[in-house]
Amino acid sequence: MDDSRETLGPQAFVTGFPIKHSRSPLIHGYWLKTLGLPGSYRAHEVAPADFSVFVDSLKSGESGFVGGNVTIPHKEMAFKLADDPDELSDELGASNTLWIEDGRLKATNTDGRGFTANLDERHSGWDRAQSAVVLGAGGASRAIVQALRDRGVREIHLVNRTVERAQELADRFGPKIYAHSMAALPDVMRGAGLFVNTTSLGMTGEEAPRIDFSPLLPDAVVTDIVYVPLKTPFLTQAVQQGFPVVDGLGMLLHQAVPGFEKWFGRRPVVDEKLRALIIEDM
Ligand code: ATR
Repeated sequence: MDDSRETLGPQAFVTGFPIKHSRSPLIHGYWLKTLGLPGSYRAHEVAPADFSVFVDSLKSGESGFVGGNVTIPHKEMAFKLADDPDELSDELGASNTLWIEDGRLKATNTDGRGFTANLDERHSGWDRAQSAVVLGAGGASRAIVQALRDRGVREIHLVNRTVERAQELADRFGPKIYAHSMAALPDVMRGAGLFVNTTSLGMTGEEAPRIDFSPLLPDAVVTDIVYVPLKTPFLTQAVQQGFPVVDGLGMLLHQAVPGFEKWFGRRPVVDEKLRALIIEDM
């Protein structure tokens, strides 16, 4: 991209601590280039102690940014410091997308929409599932539970090593969300049409748990939000057992769409070339 196009248009950021491994600059850079838009998107590392000063500079316009993405560990503070967090962020207590509008700092959370958009794209009809099993009860799980509930999935079974964390989430997100310990997994899988892994189980040295997916409905879909590697231990086992799977890379790509549209004024498309670009970079 030539320098003039970068400096003339809107400037957006991704901030976190650390931030250098973020793939977001690659995603937004690809869209800016393919759409031929002026503007730039860059990683901007901010330490936790400096985050509120950074937000002040966004609000005053001093930073020069029109908005950006926020990742670990700043999502909760971004929510607290924004002038107008939307309902999605409000319920999650965390925001990942910020933009200035009418002189105010607006905030939303696009993780849940990224998750469902990925499933819509790669396995349409998934939302006919009446019952879903979600493994894990951390920050990512929250956004997914919210999105599944909002898409009308009737029953959500949250399975977590620390059952209290799952219970807390179930209490927050309303009726028909049930908390279970890991031991209950085979039981709660019975008759479910969707299985989601949100944990790093099997990814960090320890052996991946053996999962028997056969209690799921025969046409159930298995998905994982972990995308490095693309075929996680969960997805590999599901494929071996004959279930359709959706990998987590599309969630990363789709969660980026609403922010790009806010900052640069055009709705970008998640295409196969973009997927290939990120896979090449992994
Ligand atoms: P994130 O924001 O990515 O969801 P997190 O908030 O740290 O990350 O949550 C990680 C999730 O993975 C949690 O559900 C965690 O279980 P606990 O709540 O019991 O900690 C789960 N997890 C991580 N490693 C695990 C392991 N080895 N066995 C079982 N669950 C694990």
